[in-house]
Amino acid sequence: MHEAVVKARARGRRVGVVPTMGALHEGHLSLVRASVERCDETVVTIFVNPTQFGPGEDLAKYPRTFDEDIARVEAAGATMVFAPSNEEMYPSGASTFVEPPSVAIPLEGKFRPGHLRGVATIVLKLFHAVPADVAIFGRKDYQQFKVIEAMVRDLNVAIELVAGETVRESDGLAMSSRNRYLSSDDRVRALSLSRALSIAHEAYRQGERSTAALEALMSEELRGVDSVDYASVVDADTLQRYDIVPPKAVALIAARVGGARLIDNRTLS
Ligand code: PAJ
Repeated sequence: MHEAVVKARARGRRVGVVPTMGALHEGHLSLVRASVERCDETVVTIFVNPTQFGPGEDLAKYPRTFDEDIARVEAAGATMVFAPSNEEMYPSGASTFVEPPSVAIPLEGKFRPGHLRGVATIVLKLFHAVPADVAIFGRKDYQQFKVIEAMVRDLNVAIELVAGETVRESDGLAMSSRNRYLSSDDRVRALSLSRALSIAHEAYRQGERSTAALEALMSEELRGVDSVDYASVVDADTLQRYDIVPPKAVALIAARVGGARLIDNRTLS
């Protein structure tokens, strides 16, 4: 993989990489298309990264749809797929990890300890295996994007980052590989995440600047889900929470609906 990318770049080809865990949907494919638009070659990586799953999380049952994934990325214009084995990415004895930046501490950092450390580690490893010009990630995983952005800056990684907009179902539900865990009743209840974000966005637009008031509106809308890890309004860059909503802010939600833990976010302003 490394040699193929180095050779392509030596021939003057611009290479994009789209890291994924497979079970691909339109959200992933929109990132592939964004790469195809910008680059001559697009590499999609497919690897269900064990180090970003905590004990009791869904690693074993994470959906795997490899043959369909290959057909989809090819149809979207990708030219290469990198799907390493666990042994290839983590040979026995591997014990080095990336200490994630401070934006990894709140939110997911609180509720999924070690998750963003695993993400930062695998993403840096993928950047080394696939030394592309550009990497494309989704804003759907907002905190993940901010962690990767800070890591690239702090560790002098020579890659350009591009963020793709969240792709939603027609009723507003953010597409996710985990949506397939939802029963039809769960699927209806899951809509409250995007609705809560819209309500917060509208209240913000009408002038509400109290963080607590916006969070209360979201919690109220989320009363039908099974549990809420967080429904927070934070600074869009530092992910710090302030009593008064800062000029660049984002609302983020993580909640459990049936067997799925779902996340979504929306920029305010
Ligand atoms: P995965 O959940 O498969 O997501 C791969 C990429 O697709 C991420 O950049 C994610 O933000 C983006 N994505 C997911 N749903 C999206 C949607 N509805 N609209 C737009 N983009 C969406 O995120 C991971 O994998 C992993 O943590 C990874 C970065 C690959 C490291 O293992």
